Amino acid sequence: MTQDRLAGLRVLVTGGAGGIGAACVRAFAEQGAAVTVADVDGDAARKAADDAGGTAWTVDLTDTAALEDLQLDTDVLVNNAGIQRVAPIDEFDPAAFRLIHRLMVEAPFLLIRAALPGMYARGFGRIINISSVHGLRASANKSAYVSAKHALEGLSKVCALEGAAHGVTSNCISPAYVRTPLVEGQIADQARLHGIPEEEVLARIMLAEQAVKRLVEPEEVAALAVWLAGPDAGMATGASYPLDGGWSSR
Ligand SMILES: NC(=O)c1ccc[n+]([C@@H]2O[C@H](COP(=O)([O-])OP(=O)(O)OC[C@H]3O[C@@H](n4cnc5c(N)ncnc54)[C@H](O)[C@@H]3O)[C@@H](O)[C@H]2O)c1
Repeated sequence: MTQDRLAGLRVLVTGGAGGIGAACVRAFAEQGAAVTVADVDGDAARKAADDAGGTAWTVDLTDTAALEDLQLDTDVLVNNAGIQRVAPIDEFDPAAFRLIHRLMVEAPFLLIRAALPGMYARGFGRIINISSVHGLRASANKSAYVSAKHALEGLSKVCALEGAAHGVTSNCISPAYVRTPLVEGQIADQARLHGIPEEEVLARIMLAEQAVKRLVEPEEVAALAVWLAGPDAGMATGASYPLDGGWSSR
């Protein structure tokens, strides 16, 4: 149901064609915002944008040199696009490490940098960074992802300090495993790998650190993003909001 709480706001969601990003696109559109879907998958971006009555921007955000002279006219920026590679540090491909940092640290920095002048001029802006429980806690075999998400948390805090005087807030949302096609595929793989039923993969592997033993739903992440963009969240800045079923309370 459209509620128009965010009518008049322009929202850019990176990685908006799939998973959490697509849920954000739907949720912002339902609140009356004008949404731009930025994604490397042009067809999926156009489909998500059409469904939301928004605009598609086909862009490979790992091409960070192309983002250096960008100017972004948006009221809300959701830095969401991300990827994962898993290997121990001594076997980790340096190119994959750099790629993850380009997409998940450099690109958010450059997009924020491109959006802030307009936000400062209008005296309003919302930076929402989709981090992870891995921005707050480490897991083995995820050196690139964990270090990139920790960097994103730091970038978000600096942006909050600099933006405050200009009406700009910056926050992270830090979920544990979210029910996306990416994670559902991992469940099947882990089940095969460990020779256990898929239901046990969740409890014994993915949800081991959580008190609430279920996956996060993409819509739960999107609802928090919508709240952070809304009129009640002006004092919420420089923070990280875990949606991790208690994982980071350990
Ligand atoms: N799924 C989880 O369990 C989970 C948990 C915590 C945090 N996150 C974070 O949430 C974000 C979204 O994850 P997701 O699970 O929805 O992923 P996903 O793979 O379902 O979707 C990611 C989207 O980003 C796009 N993308 C990938 N590379 C890109 C590039 N170079 N340029 C532009 N777009 C690109 C993809 O095309 C896709 O549409 C990521 O930052 C991820 O780290 C995910």
